[in-house]
Amino acid sequence: MKINFNDLKIQNKLIRSSIISNFKKTFDSTKFILGPEVELLEKKLAEYTSSKYCLTTSSGTDSLLISLMALGIKKGDEVITTSFTFVSTAEVISRLGAKIIFADISREDYNIDVDSLKNKLTNKTKAIIVVSLFGQTANFRRIKNVVKKIPIIEDGAQSFGSSHYGIKSCNLSLIGCTSFFPSKSLGCYGDGGAIFTNNKKIFKKMKMIRQHGQIKKYDYRLLGISARLDTLQAIVLLEKIKLLDAEISKRKKIFNHYYTNLSKINGIQINNIKKGNKSNYSVLSILVKKNRSKFIKYLKKNKIPTTIYYPKPLDTFKIFNKTKKITPISLEISKKILSLPMSAYLSKSKQEYIISKIKQYFL
Ligand SMILES: Cc1ncc(COP(=O)(O)O)c(C=O)c1O
Repeated sequence: MKINFNDLKIQNKLIRSSIISNFKKTFDSTKFILGPEVELLEKKLAEYTSSKYCLTTSSGTDSLLISLMALGIKKGDEVITTSFTFVSTAEVISRLGAKIIFADISREDYNIDVDSLKNKLTNKTKAIIVVSLFGQTANFRRIKNVVKKIPIIEDGAQSFGSSHYGIKSCNLSLIGCTSFFPSKSLGCYGDGGAIFTNNKKIFKKMKMIRQHGQIKKYDYRLLGISARLDTLQAIVLLEKIKLLDAEISKRKKIFNHYYTNLSKINGIQINNIKKGNKSNYSVLSILVKKNRSKFIKYLKKNKIPTTIYYPKPLDTFKIFNKTKKITPISLEISKKILSLPMSAYLSKSKQEYIISKIKQYFL
């Protein structure tokens, strides 16, 4: 029995022929950059999240960078985010010369701890990047009560398709960013991303920044970058978005089955989805209370792949920080966290096998 951490091959088979036939149309038209499919995709993505505007981009990282650039973030500004996230979230802040202020996370969902965030606010805070990790949106309801005027960017790279009190991820704050990296809940066949907003002025600015700061061809009004989504990737995403909700439902069943079985085991901790949240169940993370490396070795011996998201909080890296260990909960979680195989196409028998091996280890 071969278990994959994230099974994309089955999904590929379902959409292969329509993607290839649409690729052929683009090969003939040669509209590889900003072809009609890109605009159509932006329309569909905006509809999906009920956002007024959507701008596709070359990656989740560039989406975050463009958002900060549009907000005018510069040297001397402070931008708050968490240390328990993928490197991009912090990297883009430093890239613009601003100072990253790391807040700690909540043990319930590993997202930003609202009290920690509150403590980090100063008159230099110019933006906040709130990450919605592992498919669950952060506590935006509370965050918006605490933060009234400072612009909030949601890093929804892992939460596309999720919602918070009925509002879709990426439409929970001034700007929402996502990634179409292949393993994401909506992934393409390469790099890609998108930005969402309801603010026309910011949207127009971001659109210019995405393409060299130009307002029209060869008329540059802002310092920009080159960060467009390819037409071929848009074609892939237009097919995959049709599967998105059904795949989330499938993963929900798989999550519930894991939860029912694993929550009874003493040696591990699995968190349930928080009130008000609908997850996309893209990543299944548990905490291993003792000796994680021994457990990983055991699973590996039994051909069960695992991944650690994330082995080190970002504030422990020299490139981001000079005063170490400022987020103790992130540090503690990073030593215990472990992600198990999760996919809409994980068969019942494979999941039963994984659960039985985990039970054997702990019971
Ligand atoms: C939380 C988070 N932010 C940002 C990114 C960056 O996205 P991309 O790889 O598309 O640049 C990722 C992707 O892994 C992510 O998980």
